[in-house]
Amino acid sequence: MECTWKTVLLLVCTSLAVQYTAIRSLRDSVGRPCHVPGHCHRRQTKQDGWRPLCEESPLSERTPRSPPQKHILLFATTRSGSSFTGQLFNQHPGIFYIFEPLYHVQQAFANSSSRLRHGPERRALLGAYRDLLLNLYSCDMHFLESYIRPEPQDHLTNTFFRRASSNALCSPPVCPEAIRAPGEPNEASCPKRCQTLNLTLASQECLARGHVAIKTVRVPEVGDLRTLSEDPRLRLRIVHLVRDPRGILASRMGAFAEQFRAWKVWNATGRRPRYVDLAQITRTCQDLAGSAWTGLQQPTWLKGKYLLVRYEDLAYSPEEKAKEIYRFVGLEMDEKVRSWISRNTNHNASPAERNYKFSTTRDSRTTAESWRLHLAFDIVGAVQRLCNNTLSLLGYKLVHS
Ligand SMILES: *[C@@H]1O[C@H](CO)[C@@H](O)[C@H](O)[C@H]1NC(C)=O
Ligand SMILES: *[C@@H]1O[C@H](CO)[C@@H](O)[C@H](O)[C@H]1NC(C)=O
Ligand SMILES: *[C@@H]1O[C@H](CO)[C@@H](O)[C@H](O)[C@H]1NC(C)=O
Ligand SMILES: *[C@@H]1O[C@H](CO)[C@@H](O)[C@H](O)[C@H]1NC(C)=O
Repeated sequence: MECTWKTVLLLVCTSLAVQYTAIRSLRDSVGRPCHVPGHCHRRQTKQDGWRPLCEESPLSERTPRSPPQKHILLFATTRSGSSFTGQLFNQHPGIFYIFEPLYHVQQAFANSSSRLRHGPERRALLGAYRDLLLNLYSCDMHFLESYIRPEPQDHLTNTFFRRASSNALCSPPVCPEAIRAPGEPNEASCPKRCQTLNLTLASQECLARGHVAIKTVRVPEVGDLRTLSEDPRLRLRIVHLVRDPRGILASRMGAFAEQFRAWKVWNATGRRPRYVDLAQITRTCQDLAGSAWTGLQQPTWLKGKYLLVRYEDLAYSPEEKAKEIYRFVGLEMDEKVRSWISRNTNHNASPAERNYKFSTTRDSRTTAESWRLHLAFDIVGAVQRLCNNTLSLLGYKLVHS
């Protein structure tokens, strides 16, 4: 407690800068009292008043003392190859990768979801999404506790969505059990070996890694991210992943058989049943085109922060495209990323890995264009009519047979 007065001074200084409640909770749980006054003063000169000022000790041995430097958003839509693309960040040891944290927010708003396209609910939900992203980019994992069900106790939870998709959450120190079972973390082994998730530990590991990447499929359009992009405390880099809507549809039909039952009937018979829901794919196409259009216009708030990536290009030249993505976010592509790519873009996955619904381990080239073999032409024609502007804007060719 000998540092208390310094902490008070710091707080006074900081309050001159922008203040966020999120910082307070983060500093309480993650930060340590200052032991090195010089260190604290140095930090005052940087523009990071809202970030944890005195995180120290356990972290300082594990490199970067500074708050996360790069804030990467993998902005995508369901079944557009985002799990595969996310691995490019997940495999980097300096990146703390989070797979769709907005899931928890959406669950909390579940009962208003039908009205979420328009009106006040939509704005509230998008606002909650942005608040969460902003706090996660500063490594405040506790911010999620408002949304996770059941409510975490003592910052511990067993219901963190897709924890297994994040290497950082499946390796020591966040998953201490993994020490006894060495080897690369993966989605299959993580749930077996990692027990309760300690969100405080996760926050610390996030700071230690130095960069944060978040994948989401829940923000409709890139324009919805404008206030985040404009936020001077973030160095946001948006990687907008798009995919041929015909491929998206084929993939959704494969993964969500129940929901797409009518589509499957259509596919099997070649004739459209009366009750097919065309709205979802239409909306997906509108969102894809809307975002790409905004991004390509390069408005001031997005300039230099937006990269459009077609999943098919990534599937055909994974290493080249990955390099381009890393150049854009301003990081070196780690050797681990390179070796993951070479392991996972060939035919050498085991059958078990190939059959896993959300698996990323499979031949990316075959997957990218498999819709040509898996969709009846009648469906292809319908999607081409519904999405003609999107296909044309993104440079996908129409097929006629
Ligand atoms: C939604 O409403 C139903 C019944 O109206 C209720 O049982 C359920 O708990 C609600 N869910 C949420 C997330 O509030
Ligand atoms: C969670 O981790 C923090 C930081 O290491 C630790 O202080 C705390 O005791 C842990 N919580 C529990 C319940 O183990
Ligand atoms: C559509 O039908 C074809 C041929 O009947 C089948 O091979 C394919 O797997 C089906 N596609 C989907 C997505 O169910
Ligand atoms: C898409 O279809 C609409 C309506 O049929 C048409 O007006 C429009 O020009 C088409 N767009 C492109 C890019 O072909």
